[in-house]
Amino acid sequence: PIRACLFDLDGVLVDTAKYHYLAWKRLAEELGFDFTEQDNERLKGVSRMASLDILLGIGGLNLDEETKLALAEKKNAWYVDYISRMDESEILPGALAFLQELKAEGIRIALGSASKNAMTILNNTHMVPYFDAIIDGTKTVSAKPDPEVFLLGAQELKVDPAECVVFEDAEAGVEAAIRAGMRSIGVGSKATLGRADDVVSSLQEMSASRLMELFPAR
Ligand code: G6P
Ligand code: MG
Repeated sequence: PIRACLFDLDGVLVDTAKYHYLAWKRLAEELGFDFTEQDNERLKGVSRMASLDILLGIGGLNLDEETKLALAEKKNAWYVDYISRMDESEILPGALAFLQELKAEGIRIALGSASKNAMTILNNTHMVPYFDAIIDGTKTVSAKPDPEVFLLGAQELKVDPAECVVFEDAEAGVEAAIRAGMRSIGVGSKATLGRADDVVSSLQEMSASRLMELFPAR
């Protein structure tokens, strides 16, 4: 049976993917090249420094470590400025209702995010009380598609990975769930998330009963 749900944050529970995109785009433009929404798909779920490497690759730039750290900090300062103004209105449709339903059903809930800014976002949107475990970019060493973030979540919840379902909007995140031995539901488009067990366009399509239908207890 499914005993726990692990949620990615950016792009699944909150609409922050747009802020990451805006901040990276601004950096690319400052460096003299264009950065499209399609390029941005490759950055979803990927850690800050790995994202910067992908971005610089798109611009054909090869920079030293010190310059790269300064650029990543610059991007983050813009991003932090965006999220400092967030409130509950930026929780994505269906997310709160689904979290409440899972809680009522006794299903354990964890956060599995690569972001080092996750706590700021959870605090500003008042979502902290929903989580039985919070694993973010300050607690992990390896980034998605490495399964570390989700395995730590399952461990903290004391639930077997086979009894966990991951909700992800990023290809790297779905891959991480598969490597963790967990089930997964993509939130977004089938074109990028086809490897997940199922894909919904938003959490509005999710319910505890749909979860049980998808993964029936044997
Ligand atoms: C999430 C987002 C990525 C972001 C990463 C690190 O996984 O999907 O776009 O790069 O977190 O976030 P941070 O807030 O630590 O820069
Ligand atoms: Mg995401």
